[in-house]
Amino acid sequence: MAGRTYLPRKLEFEDLVKLLVQEHAGMHEGLARVRSAAEKHDFQQASKALRELDPVFRQHVVDEESTVLRLLISKLGVKRAQEEIKVFQQHRPIYNLMQTVIELASKSEGELMAEQARLGALFVHHTVAEEEQVFPKAVDCYRGTRRPEAGTPG
Ligand SMILES: [Fe+2]
Ligand SMILES: [Fe+2]
Repeated sequence: MAGRTYLPRKLEFEDLVKLLVQEHAGMHEGLARVRSAAEKHDFQQASKALRELDPVFRQHVVDEESTVLRLLISKLGVKRAQEEIKVFQQHRPIYNLMQTVIELASKSEGELMAEQARLGALFVHHTVAEEEQVFPKAVDCYRGTRRPEAGTPG
């Protein structure tokens, strides 16, 4: 993700998590705009909607990786944060697919429809995993209320 450098936003942890959840909703709307533009064969609008999404996604990922993931790893260690690390490893493929869809918006209608649908599905899957699994675990860690998993000493 080259280009402009994004720095982690300085927010209280739980406020950051709330903001990240709000941004998921905003990005879902953005992807819905991409889909409806593509369905109307309005490729200029589709690619405009994607370009608007780009800086939001990049800032969002920086906060998730530098703040949420860092907290999980520092409190739990890499091994016990394994599943959450996997969720965050989806950022790169999602971002790459976003770039592919931007390129397709000016090239191939059929592929654009298929790939934007794939992007939408991947994104839904990713944000559900974050909201249901990663963020609650991170907030527990932040509050210090997380108990060691069953069978885990300490
Ligand atoms: Fe994410
Ligand atoms: Fe996210």
